[in-house]
Amino acid sequence: MVKLSSNNYFLLFLGIVVIMDSQAFKRQLSFKDALLNKYSLEEDDEELCFIHISGSPKHKAPFDQSEHYQKRILTLDGCGITCAGPDREIITTCPNVEELDLAKNKLSNFEEVLRIISQLHKLEFLNLSENYLSQKIDDFSPFIEDQDRDALPSIKKLILNNTSVPLETVYSLLTCLTGVQDLYLSLNGYDNIPEAPEQYPNIRSLSINKHDIKQWDEVGKLGFVFPGLTTLRMSECPLENITPTELPQQFPELKILNLNDTLLNTWEDIEALKCFPQLTDVSLMGIPLLNQFSDQEKRQLLIARLPNIEKLNKTKIMEEEREDAERFFIRHHMDNENPPLRYSELVARHGMLDRLADVNLQAKTSAMISFIFDDQPLFKREINLMQSTASLKKYLSKFIGIPPPGFKLLYHDVGFCVGLEEMWFGAKKLYTFKMKDGDEIHIWSR
Ligand SMILES: *[C@@H]1O[C@H](CO)[C@@H](O)[C@H](O)[C@H]1NC(C)=O
Ligand SMILES: *[C@@H]1O[C@H](CO)[C@@H](O)[C@H](O)[C@H]1NC(C)=O
Ligand SMILES: *[C@@H]1O[C@H](CO)[C@@H](O)[C@H](O)[C@H]1NC(C)=O
Ligand SMILES: *[C@@H]1O[C@H](CO)[C@@H](O)[C@H](O)[C@H]1NC(C)=O
Ligand SMILES: *[C@@H]1O[C@H](CO)[C@@H](O)[C@H](O)[C@H]1NC(C)=O
Repeated sequence: MVKLSSNNYFLLFLGIVVIMDSQAFKRQLSFKDALLNKYSLEEDDEELCFIHISGSPKHKAPFDQSEHYQKRILTLDGCGITCAGPDREIITTCPNVEELDLAKNKLSNFEEVLRIISQLHKLEFLNLSENYLSQKIDDFSPFIEDQDRDALPSIKKLILNNTSVPLETVYSLLTCLTGVQDLYLSLNGYDNIPEAPEQYPNIRSLSINKHDIKQWDEVGKLGFVFPGLTTLRMSECPLENITPTELPQQFPELKILNLNDTLLNTWEDIEALKCFPQLTDVSLMGIPLLNQFSDQEKRQLLIARLPNIEKLNKTKIMEEEREDAERFFIRHHMDNENPPLRYSELVARHGMLDRLADVNLQAKTSAMISFIFDDQPLFKREINLMQSTASLKKYLSKFIGIPPPGFKLLYHDVGFCVGLEEMWFGAKKLYTFKMKDGDEIHIWSR
């Protein structure tokens, strides 16, 4: 009997298919036929297109091959391609392709994939997402003709999301595709990292979102397989911990790490991020550890813990923001009997300011102030009172989107009925206003 699967749409659309024998469904569709189908499809009406797919592409209007000869970008996703086709058919049709999207086709044999790419000597980008490529292959060399061996290193960016490709196969593939720098392996269901026969230092960026790995020990193995990684994206996965001990050996070059929507749940995991020797950019949205805090608190608590991080959630951390965050952290842990190690580090660091405050008649060094922008509450924020009015204006300017000359600040000493006091002098330090928690600063646009 006929296996229908996704082909049954054709049955619904075309009465004539009913009389075709089951061979029609097993028919292979080559790369070139798919290409011709697709580009004639844009001119012909839909009915004709179906006849092309189920019948022979030779029926349609004469087709000028040279039309594809110069093409550098080919998008053939979802075209039903199963195979490369006759030898040299691709190289004579479209030899100049640099970017090729073959996502959502019916390629399930790597031999065919290699026959396609070994004909495209300029190929730099290849998308194979959503082809079912689950073969375990230890050695690709039997699939590659000697004369094609030189073509393969041209590929720089390789997308294998949602292909079920085993990591062992990826390793053997990379042994041939030595130019790949940017590799996407998301949605392949990996729950462990197998040993690799060699290291692949050319891979700079790896995306492996939505895997099934829970323990850092496995992730660490990735580092040994790809020692040149500068970017690792690993979001939406059940990772529960980060073990710091071997990080410098595992990820010596890593600068950018995305851990959004993982299951990290302790501050030790966060502190472990300090042990990556080069890490400066980390994304940590949607982790259970921080659920209980407001967005502002999340950011401040993370910044205070991570002196080496320059960008959090892709937003640059300004010097002033870090200072505020560290003060917030100290305040947050002040009454903690057993404060984290970082607490004493930060107290040591901000101690100078505290002594300076003592000299200044015990003025506070920070206060929780409510900001009111044109009579609307803006936010409540812990601010550093050792800064000048001008520097506060600069800070606020970012949030209200008005440059400092475009607004003025007025201090309201809540509890005294003296009204608003305009903060005229840019150089005046905030502590000289004797600000305290709960006071207000009004921002008036001019
Ligand atoms: C690769 O294919 C997938 C599936 O069609 C698509 O979502 C993705 O945007 C493609 N990637 C690129 C960079 O073209
Ligand atoms: C993964 O691919 C399958 C088909 O192979 C598709 O049904 C599924 O929606 C894809 N998953 C995602 C998240 O894109
Ligand atoms: C799959 O790869 C593309 C690159 O085309 C990437 O943008 C996308 O986020 C990936 N999908 C997942 C789930 O990571
Ligand atoms: C995850 O991190 C990226 C930064 O790389 C950010 O742009 C994105 O919005 C985050 N996504 C979620 C779902 O948190
Ligand atoms: C990440 O950044 C976004 C916007 O930049 C913010 O809403 C979110 O609170 C931040 N999360 C953390 C943990 O810093």
